[in-house]
Amino acid sequence: MRSFIVGVFLTLLGLACGVFAVSRFGLYPIGADNPPSGLERALASRAMDVYADKHKPEMQNPTQITAAALTEGAEEYEGHCAFCHGGAKAKISPMRDKFNPPVPQLVHQIPHDPDNWLFWITKHGVRMTGMPAWDGVISDEEMWKIIAFIKHSDKLPPEAAAAWQKLASTPGEIEEHTPDRHEHAGRQGLTR
Ligand code: HEC
Repeated sequence: MRSFIVGVFLTLLGLACGVFAVSRFGLYPIGADNPPSGLERALASRAMDVYADKHKPEMQNPTQITAAALTEGAEEYEGHCAFCHGGAKAKISPMRDKFNPPVPQLVHQIPHDPDNWLFWITKHGVRMTGMPAWDGVISDEEMWKIIAFIKHSDKLPPEAAAAWQKLASTPGEIEEHTPDRHEHAGRQGLTR
C-alpha cells in the first residue's frame, strides 16, 4: 500500500515537473503560425461549441429583416469583422489562415449555427484565438443585425446588396504586403 502511494505521488510530481518544464523552458510553441495538434484542436473546438450552446440567450434574432436593417448589418460587419472574416471585397480574407485556428469565412461559407449561438460568440469572443469580445464596442442590437446580415448575405435584397458592394473594404490589400506561400485564396479575392 505504501509503495502504491509513493508511486502515485512520484507520478504526479513527474507530471507537474513536465508541465513546469514545458511552460518555463520555451518548449511550448506559441506562434500563431504553428498549428495546434489534432487533439488540442478537437478538445478546444468542442469546449467552445458546448460552452456557447449552454450560455447563449434563449431568444430569436429580434432584427426585422428589411433592406435597411441588412444594410446596417453590412456596414457594421464591414467595419468590424470583414478584415478577418472576409467581406465585400474579398469573401475569403487573406488573414484567414494567419490565425490558428483559422478564421471561419462567414460570408463565403455561411454558418448553419443558430443566430443566438453566433450572437454569444460575437458578444463574448473566444479566448486565445484572436476572436475578440465585442461587448461594449458594438451594441447588442447591432450584433443581432450583423448576424442577420451574415445569414442573408447570399440572398440580400438588391438595394442592400448594392450598398454592401459599395462598402468593399481593405482585406484584399493586405495580400500585397503579405505574400502567401501556401494558398492563393486571398488573391482570388483581389481579382474579383
Ligand atoms: C482579429 C480577427 C477577428 C475579427 C476582427 C473578428 N473575428 Fe470572429 N473569429 C476570429 C477567429 C480567429 C475565430 C475562430 C475562433 C475559433 O474557431 O475558436 C472567429 C470566430 C467567430 C465566430 C464563430 C464562427 C464559427 O462558425 O465557429 C463568429 C460567429 C464570429 N467570429 C463573429 C465575428 C463578428 C460578428 C465579428 C465582427 C463584429 C468578428 N467575428 C470579428 C477572428 C476575428
